[in-house]
Amino acid sequence: MNSTNEKYWAEHYDKGNTPWDMGTTSPPLTAYFQGLHDKTQAILIPGAGTSHEAEWLWHNGFKNVWVADIAAEPLQKIRERCPSFPEEQLIHGDFFALNRQFDLVVEQTFFCALPPEWRPRYVQKMKDILKEGGHLVGVLFDFPLTEQGPPYGGGVEEYRELFSPYFKIWKMERCYNSIKPRAGKEIFINLIQNLS
Ligand SMILES: C[S@@+](CC[C@H](N)C(=O)[O-])C[C@H]1O[C@@H](n2cnc3c(N)ncnc32)[C@H](O)[C@@H]1O
Repeated sequence: MNSTNEKYWAEHYDKGNTPWDMGTTSPPLTAYFQGLHDKTQAILIPGAGTSHEAEWLWHNGFKNVWVADIAAEPLQKIRERCPSFPEEQLIHGDFFALNRQFDLVVEQTFFCALPPEWRPRYVQKMKDILKEGGHLVGVLFDFPLTEQGPPYGGGVEEYRELFSPYFKIWKMERCYNSIKPRAGKEIFINLIQNLS
């Protein structure tokens, strides 16, 4: 079945077949969030799933946090866990159809969920959805790309080539604080949208 459509993901959520969901915030992301000072910045988490990160940000004073997911089920989980999260900031829709801009976009197992041939499209959309000088921050997998997936793998060399036309590569390095099953398989990225 095709991992680009809502039905594929809805079925996974309906069956509770969500091995990507860590049930808590991702340590590399929490460490990054803890260093942020501007709590007014507009933050998007696309392909957010049940987004423990959105919940963490909300409870830690970041009120301009938006999540988007093509499947409705995970958004309902966020509503249940975090009833004060604004309804309008829970977007049930396609990331590629969003038309507002953000200061920061948070990536976690969304990139790897898309077919590899969509990667240039993902990069283009990230460039457009970020305000000038905005950051794309998150984790990308570090394991060989195969035809099987999702998740689809990749590595630093490929990621550099993909992102460097539109982003300054501020950080792209092996995570030191991944959860055990992902240790040695995650790359932390902090990329700055660079139109000049
Ligand atoms: C592998 S899951 C990751 C969920 C979450 N980021 C996490 O780490 O728990 C991929 C998510 O992307 C969502 N998704 C897939 N294609 C999408 C699209 N075009 N726009 C928005 N969300 C999408 C799926 O519904 C699913 O929740």
